Amino acid sequence: MNIQIINGPNLNLLGKREPGIYGSEGFESYLETLKSKYAEINLHYFQSNVEGELINKLHEVGFSFDGIILNAGAYTHTSIALTDAIAAIQVPVIEVHISNVHARESFRHHSMIAGNCKGVIAGFGLKSYELALTSFL
Ligand code: DQA
Repeated sequence: MNIQIINGPNLNLLGKREPGIYGSEGFESYLETLKSKYAEINLHYFQSNVEGELINKLHEVGFSFDGIILNAGAYTHTSIALTDAIAAIQVPVIEVHISNVHARESFRHHSMIAGNCKGVIAGFGLKSYELALTSFL
């Protein structure tokens, strides 16, 4: 089973970025934990701060993989182009957030992409990714 995790803008700074909100663990170390716990899954990881690169990755894997776990960061709330890309592909996409976006500023309460996603998981810290992953099993 091929699952793609895609992290959007500023998520390369996990571990250093606002640790009170996003925790103190970097994503690479969390990914190693996930990979060893779910060794039977081919877990692929991509991060970019560039909207078009996120879209290119969705196109690349979106017709052949078994699932996509997408934390689009702030693009979640604004990006029509990402919304269209998710609609264009065939592989189901799960929207994830580390923080509970609904308990934060009002501009984070609306997701532009959610309507085109299979489901949404938010507020469980890095465990949000594992919850999304297990939904594909
Ligand atoms: C986030 C929430 C977004 O509102 C924010 O812009 C992020 C991270 C999260 O994982 O909690 O960059 O997607």
